[in-house]
Amino acid sequence: MTPSQTSGQLAGRVALITGAASGMGLATAERFVGEGASVVIADFNAEAGQAAADRLGPAARFTRCDVAVEDDVAAAVELAKDAFGRLDVMFNNAGIGGAFGPITEIEAEDWDRTFEVLVKGVFLGTKYAARVMIEQVEGGSIINTSSIAGQNGGGGPQAYSAAKAAVINLTKTTALELAPHSIRVNAICPGIIFTPLMHSGDEASAEALMEKMQPLPKRGEGADIAGAALWLAGDDSAFVSGESITVDGAISAAGTRVFGLMDNTKNLHRMVGMAHGTTGQPAKARRL
Ligand SMILES: NC(=O)c1ccc[n+]([C@@H]2O[C@H](COP(=O)([O-])OP(=O)(O)OC[C@H]3O[C@@H](n4cnc5c(N)ncnc54)[C@H](O)[C@@H]3O)[C@@H](O)[C@H]2O)c1
Repeated sequence: MTPSQTSGQLAGRVALITGAASGMGLATAERFVGEGASVVIADFNAEAGQAAADRLGPAARFTRCDVAVEDDVAAAVELAKDAFGRLDVMFNNAGIGGAFGPITEIEAEDWDRTFEVLVKGVFLGTKYAARVMIEQVEGGSIINTSSIAGQNGGGGPQAYSAAKAAVINLTKTTALELAPHSIRVNAICPGIIFTPLMHSGDEASAEALMEKMQPLPKRGEGADIAGAALWLAGDDSAFVSGESITVDGAISAAGTRVFGLMDNTKNLHRMVGMAHGTTGQPAKARRL
């Protein structure tokens, strides 16, 4: 072991991260290596993936992988075992925006590809990682990237949102199934995270959207997802399984955004008091 591998929350652990050539997967690979883990980066983009692994040094390996292709995923898991001897953490994170447009126009093959990457990819990652973790006996942590788009109707295109909703349920069913093997399965539901997938180079529009929608005045970065993934990967979350953890600067906390928008409620933040409804009792109000 090198000195950097002897300390840190993930010292001696081995993680496989799909989609780790960019965005939140890359930020997580960097964080995990910093915490003492060895990491396999599995990504469709060979150039960016290899460059990331080269930057991270001997604690990282790259394999070109399409998460929708069973042999590719099986080979990525094999690489973790061959290079580092085991697999403790599987982060099924790779993703694309997928099919978009009116539901009356979407091509069936685009719908299928969206589900292949976002749902079948998580299934295959779970299948092959769980086999190794069951064999190892000590268990492990599987983390799936869903989205706030999977929790409601307004967060993404139809196929993307439906696929991310499927990931939330797959997380629960596999958490139940794999619990007897001490394998925990959890999902992360990111909000607006400033990655190339989200802003497509137009950071100003992304900033404007964030200011409009997100209560917390901070840009969501890949590092924010890496922090949640680190917690789910490590021992501090040892009793957490089947959960979907929302990391969105409180966007979803706003839920049904009605309060404060009607004329009779929009000035309420400048007043304090008590409303008694239609009881006939007078309301009490004081201007601030
Ligand atoms: N950025 C956001 O605001 C946001 C919000 C919610 C959920 N997500 C989800 O987070 C995950 C990571 O996205 P990101 O924002 O970091 O995007 P990103 O584009 O920066 O990174 C995604 C990575 O996945 C890889 N990838 C795509 N298809 C692949 C495939 N078939 N096989 C292997 N690798 C593949 C890409 O090459 C890329 O390196 C995705 O699942 C995405 O849907 C993103």
